[in-house]
Amino acid sequence: MFLKLVFMLFNLVTLVASEDNSFIYNGFQSSHLYLDGIAELTSNGLLRLTSDTDHEIGHAFYPNPIVFENTSGESVFSFSTTFVFAIRPQYPTLGGHGIVFVISPTKELPNSLPTQYLGLFNNSNNGNSSNHVFGVELDTVQDFEFDDINNNHVGIDINDLKSANSTSAGYYDDNDGFNDLSLFSGYPMHVWIEYDGEKKKINVTLAPISVGFNKKPARPLLSLTKDLSPVLNNSMYVGFSSSTGLLAASHYILGWSFKVNGLAQNLEISELPEVTVFSEKKKSKFLTISLPLILLSLVFMITLGVMYYIKRKKFSEILEDWEHEYGPHRFKFKDLYFATKGFGEKGLLGVGGFGRVYKGVIPSSKLEVAVKRVSHESRQGIREFVSEIVSIGRLRHRNLVQLYGYCRRKSELLLVYDYMPNGSLDNYLYNQPKARLNWSQRFRIIKGVASSVVYLHEEWEKVVIHRDIKASNVLLDSEFNARLGDFGLSRLYDHGADPHTTHLAGTIGYLAPEHIRTGKATKSSDVFSFGAFLLEVVCGRRPIGHVGDNESLILVDYVFECWKRGEILEAKDAYLGTKYVSEEVELVLKLGLLCSHSEPLARPSMRQVVQYLERDIPLPDLSSLSLSSSGLSSVSIAESVLSGG
Ligand SMILES: *[C@@H]1O[C@H](CO)[C@@H](O)[C@H](O)[C@H]1NC(C)=O
Ligand SMILES: *[C@@H]1O[C@H](CO)[C@@H](O)[C@H](O)[C@H]1NC(C)=O
Ligand SMILES: *[C@@H]1O[C@H](CO)[C@@H](O)[C@H](O)[C@H]1NC(C)=O
Ligand SMILES: *[C@@H]1O[C@H](CO)[C@@H](O)[C@H](O)[C@H]1NC(C)=O
Ligand SMILES: *[C@@H]1O[C@H](CO)[C@@H](O)[C@H](O)[C@H]1NC(C)=O
Ligand SMILES: *[C@@H]1O[C@H](CO)[C@@H](O)[C@H](O)[C@H]1NC(C)=O
Repeated sequence: MFLKLVFMLFNLVTLVASEDNSFIYNGFQSSHLYLDGIAELTSNGLLRLTSDTDHEIGHAFYPNPIVFENTSGESVFSFSTTFVFAIRPQYPTLGGHGIVFVISPTKELPNSLPTQYLGLFNNSNNGNSSNHVFGVELDTVQDFEFDDINNNHVGIDINDLKSANSTSAGYYDDNDGFNDLSLFSGYPMHVWIEYDGEKKKINVTLAPISVGFNKKPARPLLSLTKDLSPVLNNSMYVGFSSSTGLLAASHYILGWSFKVNGLAQNLEISELPEVTVFSEKKKSKFLTISLPLILLSLVFMITLGVMYYIKRKKFSEILEDWEHEYGPHRFKFKDLYFATKGFGEKGLLGVGGFGRVYKGVIPSSKLEVAVKRVSHESRQGIREFVSEIVSIGRLRHRNLVQLYGYCRRKSELLLVYDYMPNGSLDNYLYNQPKARLNWSQRFRIIKGVASSVVYLHEEWEKVVIHRDIKASNVLLDSEFNARLGDFGLSRLYDHGADPHTTHLAGTIGYLAPEHIRTGKATKSSDVFSFGAFLLEVVCGRRPIGHVGDNESLILVDYVFECWKRGEILEAKDAYLGTKYVSEEVELVLKLGLLCSHSEPLARPSMRQVVQYLERDIPLPDLSSLSLSSSGLSSVSIAESVLSGG
C-alpha cells in the first residue's frame, strides 16, 4: 500500500515534470517558486522581488528547468511569455532600479550585483558570451556605463546589460499612435515577450492594465532579429531578477505565464492580486497567544543566567595593541555608561542612520557631551575607521562640532562629541514653525558652515571631504553658531592626491551627479552638497520634498525656474516675510544655483564661495554660464553606483 502510494506520487511528479514546457500563475498564492535575495511572496499572492531597502537583489525562478527544443529535438525552438508587473518607487519621481525577465542556465545568478547590474551580472562577467543569459529589462535608472537611453526604458539584453536594442517605455494603439508609459508609476502593466525560432525574431510588447484595455497591442514596442539558439542551452531556468541601489523601489510581479513552442496562456486579469503599498501581515494565533507565553518563561530563565554574566561583562571593552597610540582619545566605557545614566531613553537626543545619540555629563570634568553609539561594520575596517576618527578628533575650527574621543566595545563604537544645546538646524527650518530662524541668523549660519568647509578642504594638514553636508548635520550651539558635524562618511586625502572610488554614500538630493556616477567624493562634490544646503536654508524646503502624494518638488529646479522668470526672490522661505536683506538673499540663492552646476569644473571652490558671501568678489553673471535645470533631475538619469563589496 505504502509502496503503491510512493509509486503514484512518483508518477505524479514525472507527469508534472514532463509538462514543464508551459505554466501559468494568476497570482502566486502558495506557489513553489525558487526565491533568492530579498524576494518573497506576500500574503495576498504578490511576488515581491525587492522592497524599499537599498542595495538589494531579488531573484525568483520557476523551480524546474525548461527544455528549449522543438518536438523533433532540434535546436530550433520558439517561446512566449506574458506577465504583469508593478513598480512602486520610494520617491515618486525616481525609479530604483528595475526588473529583468531572465532565461539563465542556473537559478542562482551567483555573484551578481545590485544597482545598475539589476542582479543579473557583475562587473567582470557582464558582456561575456559564456553567460548564456537572455533578458528583457524594465529599467528605471539611466546608467551611462551601459549606454542607457533614459530612465524609463525597455531593453533586450543578451549576455550583457548594454542592451542589443532598447526603447522608451510605451505602446502603440490601434491607430499606430505611440503612447508613453511610466514604468515606475506604481500601476500594473502587462508585458509580452515572444520569440519565433524560424524567423529568429524577438518581439516585446507593453501595455497598461486598465478597464476595457487588457489586450495585446498589435504592434510590438521593441523587436530584435537574432538567433537565440547559441545563447540558450537546451535546459534553462526562467524567472525574474531585480535590484535596488541608492534609490530603491518595490518591484512586484502579479501574474505570469510561459510556454515553449506555442503561445503563452492569457492571464486572468481579474484574478490577479492587488498591489498595496503597505501589505498587512496577518497575526496567527501562535504569535498572539503561545509565543508570548513561551517567550515569557524563556526570558525568566535567561534573566537568571544573564544577570550574573552581565555583571562581569557590563564594562568590558576591546583594546588592541595598535590602539595604545590613540590613547588620549579613548574613553572608558564605564565612564560613558555613568555619564549617560546607562544610555537611558531619557537622555536620548536622536536616532540617526548611524546610531543613537545620548546626552551625557562626564563625571570627572562635568563636561557636557553627546555620545553616539555606532555598530561596527566589518572587522578589517575598524582600525582604519578609528584612525580616521582620531585624525578628525584633531580638527579644530569654531564651526565644527568637536569630537572629543571614542570608545570601542564588542560590536559597537562610541563617539564622544561636544554637546550642542540647540540641536540640529533642520529643526529650525522645517519642524518648528514658531522657532524659525530670521534672516541674519540664517546668513551667519551659512557663512559659518562655509568657513568650516574651507578649513576641511584647504587649511588642515589633510584634505577632508565631508560627503554629507546638509542642514540636519549642522548643529547649533547655545548662541546659535553653526557647527558642522557628523563625520561618519568623511574621507581624508593628502593634499594633491587623487581621491579614490569609495562606496557611494550620502543623502539623495545632496549628491553631485558625477559623484553618483563615479563613486568619487571630491571637493567639488562637497560644493554641490553645500549648494543644496544653501537653497535649503534660504527656501526652508528640503532638496526633494513631497508636495501632495505623488509629486516631488526638486528644489534646485524650482529656484532655477524662479530665476529664469526673473523672480528669484520668490523662492525664499515665506516665513522670512519682509524682514530680510534682499541683496543677501539673492546672492545666496544664486550661489546655491552656481554650486549645483552639473559640471564640477563650473562650480566655485569653497574659498571662492566664502569670497562671494563676504562680497570680496562679485558673483559671476549666471546667464553667462550654461546653467540649465540640472540639479536633482540628473540623479534620476545618472545613478551608476559602484556597489561591489
Ligand atoms: C524543428 O526544427 C527543425 C530544424 O530546423 C525543423 O526542420 C522542424 O520543422 C522543427 N519542427 C517543429 C515541429 O517546429
Ligand atoms: C562575477 O560572476 C562570475 C560568475 O558567477 C564569477 O565567476 C566571478 O568571480 C564574479 N566576479 C566578481 C568580480 O565578483
Ligand atoms: C568569459 O568568461 C569565461 C569563463 O568564465 C572566461 O574564461 C573568459 O576569459 C571570459 N572572457 C572575457 C572576455 O572576459
Ligand atoms: C513580431 O511582430 C511582427 C510585427 O508586428 C509580426 O509580424 C511577427 O509575427 C511578430 N513575431 C512574433 C514572434 O510574435
Ligand atoms: C529595435 O526595435 C525597434 C522597434 O521595434 C525596431 O524598429 C528596430 O529595427 C530594432 N533595431 C534592431 C537593431 O533590431
Ligand atoms: C551551454 O552550451 C554551451 C555549448 O552548447 C556549452 O559550452 C556550455 O557549457 C553550456 N553552459 C551551461 C551552463 O550548461
